[in-house]
Amino acid sequence: MTASKHTKLQSPRSTHPPRSVHIIGTGSYVPARVMTNTDLEKLVDTTDEWIVTRTGMKERRIASDQECTSDMGSRAAERAMEQAGIGAEEIDLVICATLTPDMLFPATACLIQSRIGATNAAAFDMEAACSGFLYGLEIGQQFITSGTYDTVLVVAAEKLSTIVDWEDRNTCVLFGDGAGAAILRSRGKEHGILTTCMGADGSKADILLMPAGGAKYPATRESVSSRMHYLKMAGKEVYKHAVTAMQTAAGEALTKCNLDASDIKCVIPHQANVRILEALADRIDVPMEKVYINLDRYGNVSAASVAIALDEAAREGRFERGDLILLVVFGSGLTWASCVIQW
Ligand code: ACO
Repeated sequence: MTASKHTKLQSPRSTHPPRSVHIIGTGSYVPARVMTNTDLEKLVDTTDEWIVTRTGMKERRIASDQECTSDMGSRAAERAMEQAGIGAEEIDLVICATLTPDMLFPATACLIQSRIGATNAAAFDMEAACSGFLYGLEIGQQFITSGTYDTVLVVAAEKLSTIVDWEDRNTCVLFGDGAGAAILRSRGKEHGILTTCMGADGSKADILLMPAGGAKYPATRESVSSRMHYLKMAGKEVYKHAVTAMQTAAGEALTKCNLDASDIKCVIPHQANVRILEALADRIDVPMEKVYINLDRYGNVSAASVAIALDEAAREGRFERGDLILLVVFGSGLTWASCVIQW
């Protein structure tokens, strides 16, 4: 067709001026079963004292055999919709950030879409490990800013207990299960998500990974017997990169918004280790009272960590409408991201 035949065509996006994007509702869900450090002492050679002093973790939640990632994600999504005061049919897109999908396909986002009744929504999964929720917020924001969609649900849900090696004391004490969700929509001219910065360094992919189960090492008797379907982590290496990457990401986001750390009311970081959070707070010059922590109760829930923390901090009134908050995350990939929001 020649150009003249397209004269009546109009890009649907051109009718929409760029819009600011807001989180209009959050929700979270954690399974009922609590696993304490004392419970872990019965599984591996560890102590409550070691876990608390090295990580700050005291307990974590473990999903039942009947409870999948999509179940937890759906519960969190329903709570976010309830808080936002919207119906499921208003959602245009469901993004699910997870590294523990129910199945490799179909996408867990599709299972959540069906469960919550978001019949008008497109749906896909997005994997950026612990950084997934912030990557998801940025993707959702882009869809709204461009005018493609009005309402996006970002869910971060993990059933890490299924990929944790319960015989490996180096990792099994660190992780838990749960889900968090946020509804994105424009609320008019007010600010909202001011900036999101994302980064990755795939050259460090081997310091935190689950080797088998994908196309490279499909499931075989050998892959199972050599425990390749469990999460592997070089803890010290990850620790080092976590502090540096989160400091850099936080600094970048603040600089882009022309803000100082003292302008931030609440920092909501990935919940990997309280020592990482203390080092981060020190480096970006934020008092620990401003840093939201729930890893003592839930451990590291990968993508869901920051989503659950955001929901809890908002419901606890740790910040109010108009306050500035900073989200900062780090995870396998390696990946990292930060986000400044005027609530
Ligand atoms: N109980 C008792 N002893 C233990 C345990 C345990 N659960 N785990 C390890 N140890 C031992 C080690 O075997 C080692 O013993 P050795 O000296 O005889 O060899 C000793 O404790 C010290 O181990 P380190 O690895 O030096 O301990 P460290 O102080 O580095 O803490 C930890 C380990 C908690 C894993 C830390 O390195 C860490 O938090 N790393 C970062 C993890 C992280 O950020 N993950 C985020 C990403 S998660 C994601 O994307 C899915």
